[in-house]
Amino acid sequence: MRNLLPLIGSTGSHPGGRSAMTCRFRCGDACFHEVPNTTTNEYVGDVIAGALSRRSMMRAAAVVTVASAAGGAVVGAGAPEAAAQTAEGATPASYNKGGKGARGLRFTPVAPNAADTVTIPEGYAQNVVIRWGEPILRGAPAFDPDKQSAKAQAGQFGYNCDYLGLLPLRSERGRQVLVANHEYTDEILMFKGYDDANPTREQVEIAWAAHGLSVVVVEEERKSGKLTPVSRHPLNRRVTATTEFKVTGPAAGSDLLKTSADPTGTKVLGTLNNCAGGETPWGTTLHGEENFNQYFANSSRATDKRYGVGTAASERKWELFDKRFDVAKEPNEVHRFGYVVELDPYDPDSTPRKRTALGRFKHEGATVRLTHDGRPVVYSGDDERFDYFYKFVGTKRMAHGHSRRAREHNLTLLDEGTLYVAKLTGDSPAIEIDGTGKLPKDGEFDGSGTWIPLATATAKGAVSHVEGMTAEEVFVFTRLAGDKVGATKMDRPEDIEPNPHTGKVYVALTNNTNRGVGTNAKADEANPRNANKHGHVLELTERWNRPESTKFAWSLFLVAGDPKDPATYFAGFPKDKVSPISCPDNVAFDRYGNLWISTDGAQLGYHDGLFGVATRGDRRGELKQFLTMPKGAETCGPIVQERRVLVAVQHPGEIDGATVEKPASTWPDGPGTYVRPSVVAVYRKDGRDIGA
Ligand code: FEO
Ligand code: CA
Ligand code: CA
Repeated sequence: MRNLLPLIGSTGSHPGGRSAMTCRFRCGDACFHEVPNTTTNEYVGDVIAGALSRRSMMRAAAVVTVASAAGGAVVGAGAPEAAAQTAEGATPASYNKGGKGARGLRFTPVAPNAADTVTIPEGYAQNVVIRWGEPILRGAPAFDPDKQSAKAQAGQFGYNCDYLGLLPLRSERGRQVLVANHEYTDEILMFKGYDDANPTREQVEIAWAAHGLSVVVVEEERKSGKLTPVSRHPLNRRVTATTEFKVTGPAAGSDLLKTSADPTGTKVLGTLNNCAGGETPWGTTLHGEENFNQYFANSSRATDKRYGVGTAASERKWELFDKRFDVAKEPNEVHRFGYVVELDPYDPDSTPRKRTALGRFKHEGATVRLTHDGRPVVYSGDDERFDYFYKFVGTKRMAHGHSRRAREHNLTLLDEGTLYVAKLTGDSPAIEIDGTGKLPKDGEFDGSGTWIPLATATAKGAVSHVEGMTAEEVFVFTRLAGDKVGATKMDRPEDIEPNPHTGKVYVALTNNTNRGVGTNAKADEANPRNANKHGHVLELTERWNRPESTKFAWSLFLVAGDPKDPATYFAGFPKDKVSPISCPDNVAFDRYGNLWISTDGAQLGYHDGLFGVATRGDRRGELKQFLTMPKGAETCGPIVQERRVLVAVQHPGEIDGATVEKPASTWPDGPGTYVRPSVVAVYRKDGRDIGA
C-alpha cells in the first residue's frame, strides 16, 4: 500500500506540507505521520480506559515511457534501454537467458523497465480479464465514467483490485470463480474535476460502492490461459462499504462494538481497505481489512492513535455524509473495522462475517493451513512500520465433504482458538548486526522465535493471556496486546504464506525507512538494515513442522535490492544471476513450490513487478522477474496456476499531480481513455504450462 520514498529523483521531503496523491488516498498519509508504535506498555490499561468513555512524494515525471505494445510483450530491445535511462545507479544484473531455471521458472526474465504497460516474457501472451467498472451484475450498465452513479458502480467491478482468489466451479466446465478485493479509491483519477475539499454526495457514494469485494465467474479459452468474465452469472456478487456483515467470535456483541445504529454490536455495514487475503481449505475466502484508520475523523483517543486514526477531518470527508465515520459522534464504529472478513463465494445470498478471533489490526491478508488433525491455522501480518505478525490456531476440526452440515460447521472454525503474536531472537551477537545489511560471522541472519499467546476464544467465552487486558480488549485492541507482551517490531509485515510443499512459512517485509532513525528501534537480526528501503523476505520453520507449534526457527531468505548492492542476499545464490527486486509485498506459490513475490513501491528506478524464486534445490534463491507493471501501479494478488499467472494491476497512473484530465498513465486502453485498475492473465502462446 504505501511507500515513503519516491520512485525516481527523490528528495525525501514532503512537498509543500501537503501529501502526495498516492499517500493521501492509499493509506491516509501513514508515512507522514509519526510511527504509531511508540509503545509504552505499562499504561495499556489507562489507554483502554480512555477508549471506553500514498506513497511517493513525486513519482517523477522523469519516468520514461517506452514502447507500449498494448496487449503484447515488451521485452528485449526497448525495455533494457528504458531501464538504463531511468535507473538511479542501478543496472540490471546479468540475466539467465534461454529460459533455464527451476521447474516452473523456465522463462527468460524480463528486464526491469519503466514502460507504461505490462511487460511479460518472450513466448507469453496476456489479456485484461476485467477492468474497473465492467458490469458484472444483472442490470448493471456498461462503464461510462462521465456518467457514473453509485447504483451503476454497485453492479460493476470495483476500483483498485488487490487480492485475487480463483476457486473451482466444477459444475461448469472451463469456468472458475474469481474473487477480488477492492482496497481503496483514487477519486482524483475517477472523477473529472474532483475537488478534494468539497466532494459531492454522489462521488462519496460511488466511492463506497467501488470499495469492497467482487465475485465474478470467469471462463477460460480452450487451449490457452486467457480468461474472460461471465457477466450476469448468478454467482456474481458485489460487496461494498454498505453491505451488511455479521460480527462473529469473541468481540461480537462487546460494548466496544455497540453503536447507535447497532446496539447489538454484531451488525456492521461494509468492509474497507481490503488488501491481501487467502482461500480456506473449506472453500471460502478471507480478506484483510488494512488501513481502515484513514476513513475515520476526529478522534482524540490513545487507542485510536495506536492505529493511526486521525484527529481531524479525513482525506475523503466521508464523515460529512455519514456520521459513523466521525469518531467524535460515533466512537465505536472504528472498532468495527480492522478484522479479517470471511466470504462464501458459492452462496451469493450469504452474509459475510467479520472474524474477531483473528484480532484487530491492519491485516494485510490471511492465509490458512491445517494442522495434522484438521484444525485451521491462519497467518496474518500487520502492515505498519514497527508492527507485528500473528498466528491464529483454531480448536475445531474442519469437516470434509460438501454437505450443508459440513459447510455450516466450517463457517464456525475461525471463531474459536488462540491468537498469538511473534517474537524473534537472533542467534548472532548484537554487535555483528551493524545496520548495513552485512552478514554476521555465522553467514546468516537467523535465529529462533516464539509465538506468544494473547487470548483464547472458546464457545463458553474468551480468556486473556495478557496481564492487564481482558480478552475482549485483546481482540479489539490487538496492537496494544502485542506491545504489552513485547512482540518483535518488524519492517512492515505484509503477506505471509506457507509453502504447501515444505511447510516453511514466508513473510514479506516491505520496507521501513524509519528503522534506526531518531528514537525508532534500530536494526536487529530479523530486520537487519537501518533505513530499510528495499525490504526482505523471512523464512520461518515451525518446530517439528507443525503449524500449531509455539516455537519456530527463522532465517532471512532474501534481503532485497540491487544485487550489486553488498547489503542484499538471495538465499546464497550467486548475485550476478538474479533479477533486482525491491519492496516485496504479496506472495504466492506455484505447484512446484516456487515462491512468487509481487512488489509495491520498488525503489530501484523501475516499475513494480512479479518475480519467481526457487525455495529448494541448487537453484534456491535464483530470483527471476516474470512481469512488470504500468506506470504508478503496484503488483497485487498473484495467482500462479498451471497454465496462467493472474495479477491485479492496482492503482495504475497513481502519480502525484495526475488527474483524469492530465493522466500519468492511460493503461490499459490507451490515450483518450480513463486509466483503469484491472486484472491481467498471462499465459504461454503455445498453451503449455507456465515455466515448465
Ligand atoms: Fe495494501 Fe500492505 O498493502
Ligand atoms: Ca499490498
Ligand atoms: Ca545469525
